[in-house]
Amino acid sequence: MKILVLGSGGREHALAWKLVQSKRLTRLFVAPGNAGTAAIAENIQVKPGDFKAVKQLVLDQAIEMVVVGPEAPLVSGIADFFQTDDQLKNVAVIGPGKKGAQLEGSKDFAKAFMGRHNIPTARYQTFYRDNYTDALDYLRNHENPPYVIKADGLAAGKGVSICQHFNDASENLHNMLLGGKFGKASASVVIEQYLEGTELSVFVITDGKSYKILPSAKDYKRIGENDTGPNTGGMGSISPVPFAGETFMNKVEEQIIKPTIKGLQKESIPFKGFIFFGLMNVKGDPYVVEYNVRLGDPEAEVVLPRIKTDMLDLLEATWNEKLDNSTLDIDKQYATAVMLASGGYPGEYEKGKPITGIEQVKESIVFQAGTKQGENKNLLTSGGRVMAVTGMDKTLEKALEKTYRSIKQISFERMYFRKDIGKDLMSR
Ligand code: AMP
Ligand code: GLY
Repeated sequence: MKILVLGSGGREHALAWKLVQSKRLTRLFVAPGNAGTAAIAENIQVKPGDFKAVKQLVLDQAIEMVVVGPEAPLVSGIADFFQTDDQLKNVAVIGPGKKGAQLEGSKDFAKAFMGRHNIPTARYQTFYRDNYTDALDYLRNHENPPYVIKADGLAAGKGVSICQHFNDASENLHNMLLGGKFGKASASVVIEQYLEGTELSVFVITDGKSYKILPSAKDYKRIGENDTGPNTGGMGSISPVPFAGETFMNKVEEQIIKPTIKGLQKESIPFKGFIFFGLMNVKGDPYVVEYNVRLGDPEAEVVLPRIKTDMLDLLEATWNEKLDNSTLDIDKQYATAVMLASGGYPGEYEKGKPITGIEQVKESIVFQAGTKQGENKNLLTSGGRVMAVTGMDKTLEKALEKTYRSIKQISFERMYFRKDIGKDLMSR
């Protein structure tokens, strides 16, 4: 089978790494990919958002399955584009159509969906540009600090603001609703109750009827140690999550996963792909913070290495609505990923720095993200998050030791990484 993976990050390198282990794979393309995917698959310089170019590529290469990594093409309707095109409609697309992608593309849609299906989540209200004063009143009279304000639409992970003081919250509200801070994405906002607890991510793959629960993960979003400083795309992740034991996971399945899948069915929303439940564990009870309609990054870099089942089989079963006949085999080992970033990220940083040492790494897996090949095939940095290093072992401690030992072998100018990934969970 010929497969195309769309995207260019560590998640897509991890997907490609997992897919090339499948015996039935004949060719693997990644568009646009990075230097890591170039080493195991064929990179094609096509943008995932350029549907016409994607179509041409799929037709030219007789590609049979497209796995969509990031959310943007899904929210823009790439799955519907394939479904409604006579030449493409038999091509399997892993990822929901436009309607299903609204679970991630619109906070208001997601909150209303959870309301309709009694899925536990923070209380909320949605406001539009022309009821800014109502929004301000609501914030003042119905919420307490910390105030949570979210742009309704996609804002590259930056659309959520959490403010300790009313004045900051009202300024943010003003900037989003009236100041066009996130453009169309903040033409409406969701004001939400703050949930106090510990966050984790749970992933499922679903064919719209049946589902399989993938390994849980926790990501470390802040740039600084002890979760300080600005948010990033993710600086590290671990799997499984030690505090997500059987009792908690049963609640997640009964109260969140099942009602979500049933809700999609009831509302006739087809969904073939990954659902990422961003959860808060509030005193032992799970609440949905957000839905995403894809795998997380860097969560994929710890989730996928723990899946023993053949990925192509799993994705094919998803497309053919046969997931209920599939089994999912999970490696019991811990996986830990630490992201190596360019100095300065998530602010300004320089690109084009030569990277050395990754070929020496033997006891961990290196998933490349912001990398490219230089003119003489040397490896260069080309983004803020450069690569994730994933170690696996029987305990969290041992997996982290492997990861950090491997990192010592890699270097590039102003390489930065957090040294405390997983530490908060070790003493539990
Ligand atoms: P996002 O950028 O959508 O991943 O969300 C940013 C972060 O905001 C989440 O990972 C949570 O840590 C936090 N967050 C979002 N909603 C809430 C909430 N209702 N209560 C507490 N924290 C929240
Ligand atoms: N790591 C969070 C995300 O992929 O959205």
